[in-house]
Amino acid sequence: MIYTVTFNPALDYVMQVGNITAGRVNRSRSETIFYGGKGINVSAVLAQLGIPSAALGFIAGFTGDELEKGVRAMGVEPGFVRLKNGLTRINVKLHTSEDTEINASGPDIDDDALEEFFRRTDSIADGDTVVIAGSVPKSLPADIYVRLLERLSDRKIRIAADAEGELLTNILRFRPFVIKPNIHELSAIFGAGITDNEGVRHYAAKLREMGARNVLVSMGGDGAFLLDENGGSHFRAAFAGVPKNTVGSGDSMLAGFLAGAEKDYEHALLLGSACGAATAFSEGLASRGDIERILKMSV
Ligand SMILES: Nc1ncnc2c1ncn2[C@@H]1O[C@H](COP(=O)(O)OP(=O)(O)OP(=O)(O)O)[C@@H](O)[C@H]1O
Ligand SMILES: [Mg+2]
Repeated sequence: MIYTVTFNPALDYVMQVGNITAGRVNRSRSETIFYGGKGINVSAVLAQLGIPSAALGFIAGFTGDELEKGVRAMGVEPGFVRLKNGLTRINVKLHTSEDTEINASGPDIDDDALEEFFRRTDSIADGDTVVIAGSVPKSLPADIYVRLLERLSDRKIRIAADAEGELLTNILRFRPFVIKPNIHELSAIFGAGITDNEGVRHYAAKLREMGARNVLVSMGGDGAFLLDENGGSHFRAAFAGVPKNTVGSGDSMLAGFLAGAEKDYEHALLLGSACGAATAFSEGLASRGDIERILKMSV
């Protein structure tokens, strides 16, 4: 089973607005709600690929009820801890000529709820995969990922991680199966200006030396690089197409990688790239049909 963790999920309220004038009443042309959060994105794309997963994290209030319903409708098993107080966030995304986003802070997570979250992870067993993705909300201890992985370290679990800076480097000692920094995150970790493929390979190798088994570096429209656990280097150019909304491309790539790694790493990079592109080329996340259509372009 694959478990994804989203500590601070959100309903993303996306409004298409022509122009915004501050201090005036502005009108939106259309609105859509997406069920957001990096772990949930991974689960959603896995579901499109026919792979079951469970989404862990915290929800609260009526927005939390809606989020749980939405996640279930995606074909993902919700395993959220329900908080007694507060509201699951609604993030407002205003699409105009220039996009503006207002991200809410989200509910407080108390010690009882955190304990309940850890208790639920006790059912994660040998051979399962745990996906940890995204930042840690203020109301949780900053070392929550490390605490989680320490608690799981008595089992043979595959860890997939997509996080920035020390959140990522602090967990390398747990030998994650795959990590997926984008090129900017990779540069920031080493304080380096990475400008070419050789640089990407060089710094990916450092992360592998630090403990990661597979290092997948995404480079947006410039494609992706994989340094696999056997030391093999694979570059793949991005699929050609018109990007509409690239948010979640990285999460989609991670889902595709996990699905594809069942076969081999070349295939994992191919399927990851197709899922990333399918998300980039659509308003929401990759659908099964989009992924299949894009994969046909590669043969
Ligand atoms: N414009 C694009 N055209 C084609 N493929 C793309 C495009 N943008 C992203 N992709 C595919 O998706 C992968 C992941 O994208 P990207 O590097 O933007 O991830 P990211 O920065 O982690 O995104 P996020 O954190 O928003 O999920 C890329 O390596 C590429 O294969
Ligand atoms: Mg990312």
